[in-house]
Amino acid sequence: MAPVTSLSASVHQRLADALSAALPEAAPADPLLRRSDRADFQANGILALAKKAKANPRELATKVVGSIDAPELLGDVEVSGPGFLNITVTDRAIVETLAARAADTDRLGVPFADAPGTTVIDWAQPNVAKEMHVGHLRNSVIGNAVKRILEFTGEKIVSRHHIGDWGTQFGMLIQYLLEHPHELDHKEAAEGEAAGEEAMSNLNRIYKAARVLFDSDEEFKTRARRRVVDLQAGDEETLALWQRFVDESKIYFYSVFDKLDVEIHDEDIVGESGYNDMLAETCRLLEESGVAVRSEGALCVFFDDVKGPDGNPVPLIVQKSDGGFGYAATDLSAIRDRVFNLKADTLLYVVDARQSLHFKMVFETARKAGWLTDDVKAVQLAFGTVLGKDGKPFKTREGETVRLIDLLDEAIERATAVVREKAEKVGLTEEEIVDNGRQVGIGAVKYADLSTSAVRDYKFDLDQMVSLHGNTSVYLQYAYARIQSILRKAGDARPAAHPELGLAPAERALGLHLDQFAETLAEVAEEYAPHKLASYLYELATHLTKFYDQCQVLSDENPTEVVENRLFLVDLTGRTLHQGMALLGIRTPGRL
Ligand code: ARG
Repeated sequence: MAPVTSLSASVHQRLADALSAALPEAAPADPLLRRSDRADFQANGILALAKKAKANPRELATKVVGSIDAPELLGDVEVSGPGFLNITVTDRAIVETLAARAADTDRLGVPFADAPGTTVIDWAQPNVAKEMHVGHLRNSVIGNAVKRILEFTGEKIVSRHHIGDWGTQFGMLIQYLLEHPHELDHKEAAEGEAAGEEAMSNLNRIYKAARVLFDSDEEFKTRARRRVVDLQAGDEETLALWQRFVDESKIYFYSVFDKLDVEIHDEDIVGESGYNDMLAETCRLLEESGVAVRSEGALCVFFDDVKGPDGNPVPLIVQKSDGGFGYAATDLSAIRDRVFNLKADTLLYVVDARQSLHFKMVFETARKAGWLTDDVKAVQLAFGTVLGKDGKPFKTREGETVRLIDLLDEAIERATAVVREKAEKVGLTEEEIVDNGRQVGIGAVKYADLSTSAVRDYKFDLDQMVSLHGNTSVYLQYAYARIQSILRKAGDARPAAHPELGLAPAERALGLHLDQFAETLAEVAEEYAPHKLASYLYELATHLTKFYDQCQVLSDENPTEVVENRLFLVDLTGRTLHQGMALLGIRTPGRL
């Protein structure tokens, strides 16, 4: 299906043409069009153009109005104030444009990006043998949404889950497992969630026991340290044990991602260890090119603008003085891989804002080394901290970090209670209550995360998240379910567009907002800003509510065409909500 030109794009074009006709020396001129409460649109561009041409703005505006000729598209065009234009589009144009969107089943008229490229997106990166916490909620939820949104624009996406699967702590873990070989055996043939729980409890137990030994037993400590060397040297037995930790952790990760309703694929899990073979060369190239220098034995990159509190430069350490490689060497190698092997033209990192300095230094180093050129964009989509109700970083009452799985379970439980309250009226079965409870609970958590700009901290407040009122996913999901219920109740009456009908104000407002979907998505994708999609959807649901209040859909008093046209608006709103929520990674149950 062909993409649909939005009303604002059409109006923009007509105005630009009229402006150029009225003031040829200004062509191509931007009318600076925006949505307005007074009319449908307002154009403010004439003021500046008149000033430049030393013309009277009101006169110029009047001349522009005179040269516009688009009766099917434009209703009223009025000069107002010092030289603004207030523009109203015709009801017919609204309905016809929406009908074209509705006819495009898969994309609702949303065009693909003009020049899609390849983005490698680094997201959902938990750490092996460690519990996932709220920070991992954010990199999973935001990453999932941004990936879906970019894919929808036609961008080629390669996911990279840069899991923390390497480091000295593995010496201790592996040595412990070697000495207690049955600790990772599975007692039960559990599957799914239960398997995930068992895996994590095994890992936790081993971690704690190994730590105790490491801290209390000097000989174990020595053996553990030697084991790190074996691991780095690629000793086969050691690697096999390391692999068991990775595999065990993956069972756990997958169970959490499953609960979160986030799909990840095994081939995209390329953890820190995946770049081991490149580290030495990365360092060699940096040293040979002089980008990095030896300082007290360590290989460092210095920056003019990165200084510590004492005023001394803070370097990026790519290789420690003992020869060990760290986080930076891995990320630099990953850049080489992503640019040269995966042919990325955008590198996107969905990572905690507390790692921003790291990425700034890594990107700058890669630029100096010539691995990042002007053709490659590298962006950290930095996210803020999840706070408790008290405004401090989210902790349990005992002061421990909150386990992600507990948090999700609680959200599902709360959401299920909300769903259950209405279930009888809707006639839901117990199975539907359970399914919906999950979709509402997980949706609530995701939406709360996605509805504020990523870089801001936000408060994790379940009461607010599962509220039926206000800017929550529950509100949007109920709006969607209500639409489905109306469509079911409509019986034989089908949604159908009737451009010949006049529209009520609430219908126009809803229609104009629906028409903005494609443009909103383009902006959301361009800025990696899912929160703008969330606000668009919230506004859409708000327009829908006003429309219900002011316009009866299924009323015997309505002529058939009015019923059909209203059903058409309702249906397109539902499909837009569904599509938008799906892009955020949130389900929309049909009955709620
Ligand atoms: N595993 C890291 C963490 O839990 C995030 C990794 C981010 N990605 C990267 N390429 N450094 O904080």
